[in-house]
Amino acid sequence: MITIRNLRKSYRNNHVLHGIDMDVKAGEFVVMLGLSGAGKSTLLRCMNGLNTPDSGTLHVGGIDLMQKHSRRELARHVAMVFQHHNLVQRLSVRKNVLTGRLGQVGTLASVLQWFRQSDVALADQCLERVGLAHKAHERTQALSGGQMQRVGIARALAQQPQVILADEPVASLDPKTARSVLQYLRDATRELGIAVVCNLHQVDYAREFGDRVVGLAQGRMVFNGAPDDLDEAALEAIYHAAPQAGGSAARSHDFEEAPATKGRWFAANTSSVAVSAGGAR
Ligand SMILES: Nc1ncnc2c1ncn2[C@@H]1O[C@H](COP(=O)(O)OP(=O)(O)OP(=O)(O)O)[C@@H](O)[C@H]1O
Ligand SMILES: [Mg+2]
Repeated sequence: MITIRNLRKSYRNNHVLHGIDMDVKAGEFVVMLGLSGAGKSTLLRCMNGLNTPDSGTLHVGGIDLMQKHSRRELARHVAMVFQHHNLVQRLSVRKNVLTGRLGQVGTLASVLQWFRQSDVALADQCLERVGLAHKAHERTQALSGGQMQRVGIARALAQQPQVILADEPVASLDPKTARSVLQYLRDATRELGIAVVCNLHQVDYAREFGDRVVGLAQGRMVFNGAPDDLDEAALEAIYHAAPQAGGSAARSHDFEEAPATKGRWFAANTSSVAVSAGGAR
């Protein structure tokens, strides 16, 4: 569903992503961890076409994002869930979910917001998946923060995407609500075979909900493995990477897979990223 090879992205002379390789399969829930500024949102924005990478290979939901592609086509395959859910407060819950169908209806229908009966039925099914079928007719502004985020998930599901990208979807929720929102997101995407990449700041949630965890430090992938392998050494690599001397620019050959730990750990040959083959089991 997602294939990324040697992806690089800079903003002017700020090199943010240094050759990312990543694969996500259908139905897989990948949690991305990393310090603030590690490049998590930049990578997600590359995956949804909002950022243009400098170089590399990037296929998302069957679309080659390094080639010319239509935004409408991308929207049919890739949905986003945002931290602040971006719902229209004065609209009903169902109408907000139906906006997830706008990419699929014709331009006139989209402007006039005409939806087919099948779209309405789909919106209601999506609300059911997040436990909010009974709120379909309520005004969105009357919902709690956790419920609004679930509507955001239902809207993403209504796009019938192959991929959902979630950027800190539970950052503004209390722990109990956050868990319930992540559970809804994970269960729905698993059942529907949707590939998910979800940026989080909470290691506990990554362990609890991730099928796989990816750790970024200074724009490099320093961990890629099962949640159970997220041990002290892994966390050290993800969260205690020292700033690089002379800026963040680095060469691709600075970064190699450690042979003894293939598939899980990566060793950076620069002294700045504290990963060593000895740190992995
Ligand atoms: N639109 C932009 N223009 C210029 N620089 C940017 C832009 N967006 C991000 N950056 C820079 O790219 C780097 C990575 O930012 P990014 O937002 O991807 O980090 P993040 O891992 O998502 O952090 P956080 O956990 O705080 O959300 C930072 O140095 C940031 O200043
Ligand atoms: Mg971010």
